[in-house]
This record gives sequence, structure tokens and C-alpha cells, in this order.
Amino acid sequence: MQELLDVKQAARTTWQTGDYDAMMRQEHLYGVGQRLVRRLGVAPGDRVLDVCCGTGNAAIPAAAAGAQVTGLDLAPAMLDVAARRAADAGTSVEWVEGDLEELPFDDGSFDVVLSTFGAMFAPRHEVAADEMARVLRPGGRLGDCSWTPEGAIGDFFRTVGAYLPPLPAIVDPPPLWGDEEHVSELFEGTGIALEFDREAWDIGHPSTDAAVDCYTTTFGPVVEARMLAEEAGSLPRLREDMRALFARHDREDGERVVFPAEYLVTTGRKQP
Ligand SMILES: C[S@@+](CC[C@H](N)C(=O)[O-])C[C@H]1O[C@@H](n2cnc3c(N)ncnc32)[C@H](O)[C@@H]1O
Repeated sequence: MQELLDVKQAARTTWQTGDYDAMMRQEHLYGVGQRLVRRLGVAPGDRVLDVCCGTGNAAIPAAAAGAQVTGLDLAPAMLDVAARRAADAGTSVEWVEGDLEELPFDDGSFDVVLSTFGAMFAPRHEVAADEMARVLRPGGRLGDCSWTPEGAIGDFFRTVGAYLPPLPAIVDPPPLWGDEEHVSELFEGTGIALEFDREAWDIGHPSTDAAVDCYTTTFGPVVEARMLAEEAGSLPRLREDMRALFARHDREDGERVVFPAEYLVTTGRKQP
């Protein structure tokens, strides 16, 4: 379907815009991949697939734990950065340019299938969940981290989304992957028994202005919102809305802006 191909091309462009790795480093968000890998008990000998791996948030710590890791992403420029980071970390990962909705792997190929803030961005959630379940072997472990709709990042996407074109009807809203009921429905009938937990990651910036500057220059979706707002003459309003957003969630710990960003951790085991 042409509309779906267009959506995926647009996603590729969005995620390759800005400097995702710089934002991840500023916010120490690579710690989330590390946390998920530990939670899943990834160990030497595990065959691990990180879907929508981006710059390797989960793939690299999984490889560092001794697993045989494949990282898959739609955006080749993200994979280039991932490969550089993996080499810097002294790890070896197979990087595959591909689509979560059409995984190029046989049924049951992996002991662990995981994603951090990735699967939530594939347009058709049920197709994505079915593919993750299909390539997981019986007895294998699933893990996903997705921002919750109620948390600061859910609020962030609503705030910035007001400056972006509306999502086409074929795209399921990403923050629904942060909702227990929705995720349970997605995996119904896949033979994976799920467990849920909510965690938060403290995101910090020197000030609300610094946070706005960081997102509007590094984070693809916000860089695009900033460019559209510039054209429409609404950049001051976007910046003000973002400052208000950070102030709403700030712990008010001095000058620095620090806000807990809540995400849902979904884990599960496929019936043997
Ligand atoms: C927010 S980034 C998360 C990257 C990484 N997992 C992390 O934790 O930093 C979302 C990633 O999903 C990828 N993506 C979006 N739709 C995809 C799809 N249908 N198939 C594969 N990757 C996809 C994007 O290219 C992007 O790298």
C-alpha cells in the first residue's frame, strides 16, 4: 500500500534528522537499554534481536553481556551511528536495515526479542507485535520499554504534535504501547504471558531553555516541528509551550530542569 510506504519513508527521514545520539548522551538514556538487558537476564549464548534499535541502546549492552546480537532498524543513518558506538564499546553486533512489520528472519530465530522506545513507533501495532512474537522461539523472552501516555514524554509528544501534521489514520498512536491494556490486546493469542512494570528515567538539562535548544536541534520529530513552526511564524509559541511543558514536570531542583520520564516495561515468556 503506497500510503504505508510513504509513512515509512517519512519515518526514516524523521529519525535521521538532527543528532539522536547527542540527545541520548545528554539525557544518559542509554542506561535504559542496559537496565532492560539486565532485567531480561541476557547471557552468553543468547540470540538477541533488538527491533527499532536506533543507535543501539539495547543491542550494545546485550552484546557486551556476551549474547549474539542482531539490531534492526528502518533508518540506515541510525545504524551507522550504532555501528560506531558498538566498535567503540568493543562489541560485535549484526546491523540489519529492515522493517519491524516485515522481519527478515525465520520463525523462532531468537531467544530474546526486545525494544527500547522503538516498537512503539512502528505504524501498525498489531503487525509489529505479531512479528516480534513470530521470531521468538518457544520459551524465549520478550522485553519492551515504551513511554506512557500519562508520563512526561506522553505530554511531550502531545505538546510537540500540535505543531506537526496529524498522524495518518493507518498509524496507531505511539504512546499506546505504554498502556498495559493495549499491549495485552496486542499480544493476545501469541502464546506470550506478559508482565508489566512502570519505571522512570530522570531526564536532566541545565535549564528549560537548554532543554528546548537540545530537542529542537537534535531530536528528529522536534527538529521537524521547529522547521514547520519557523515557516508558519509560530516558533516563539512552540518554544514557550515546550518551556511550560518542562516546567510542569520539573522537580524544581535549583536551576537545572530534571523531570522523571515514565515508561512501561513489558516482559514476557513464550510458551515452550
Ligand atoms: C525513538 S527511536 C528509538 C531507538 C532506540 N531503540 C533507542 O532506544 O534509542 C525509534 C527508532 O525506531 C525506528 N523505526 C521506526 N519505525 C520502524 C519500523 N517500522 N521498523 C524498524 N524500525 C523502525 C526508527 O528508525 C528509530 O531508529
